[in-house]
Amino acid sequence: MMQRQFLLFQSHLDLAHHYWQRLLYNGGWAIDATLGNGKDTLKLAQLLAGKPGGIIGIDIQPQAVQRTLEHLQDHLSPEELGRIHLFCQSHETFPALAEQHLIQLIVYNLGYLPKGNKQVTTMATSTLESVNKGFNMIAPGGALCITCYPGHEEGSREEQELLHCLSCLDATSWNVCHHAFPNRTLSASVFLIQKRTIG
Ligand SMILES: C[S@@+](CC[C@H](N)C(=O)[O-])C[C@H]1O[C@@H](n2cnc3c(N)ncnc32)[C@H](O)[C@@H]1O
Repeated sequence: MMQRQFLLFQSHLDLAHHYWQRLLYNGGWAIDATLGNGKDTLKLAQLLAGKPGGIIGIDIQPQAVQRTLEHLQDHLSPEELGRIHLFCQSHETFPALAEQHLIQLIVYNLGYLPKGNKQVTTMATSTLESVNKGFNMIAPGGALCITCYPGHEEGSREEQELLHCLSCLDATSWNVCHHAFPNRTLSASVFLIQKRTIG
């Protein structure tokens, strides 16, 4: 008989998804700040199924918004789709809808659109601007989850600048965790930044 694999942290996605599941256990509003092909948005929608809340999705490229919409339409009912709001814009600014809700989770999957234009990639400066705005929107106990890809030049810069910025966050207000795979060359790493609850 085949032994089942222990997949708790086989990949950065396993790690991230476990956190998302815990964070959205009672529902809530989530933001996918880098839609790409919509796989992360679909995962968030599945975790929120049957629970209160909604999803705001953002990508700077119309192609990514379109791919996400098609991916979601293939997997979700019209009712589930109705809770997902997609915006084509840079995540340096969040849509007004985001200000109407306390946000439980903001997800960033940095880099470029797979099978898309590699020149359109997230950039350290705009990523940090977005993350800094995100801090003000997160509910107590909520979190930001940022996946970095240091295998390309801008991705490496983003990871280093995030590391510097997040290391300076006030530890009485934020728990910051950085997961990496040190025995894998230039593999993805995940930052989890959770807003501490008062008391
Ligand atoms: C690695 S992909 C995201 C993968 C995606 N989450 C998925 O599940 O398929 C990164 C995405 O970030 C987008 N992006 C780049 N700069 C951005 C910005 N300033 N604001 C919002 N999205 C941006 C790219 O267009 C690309 O689609």
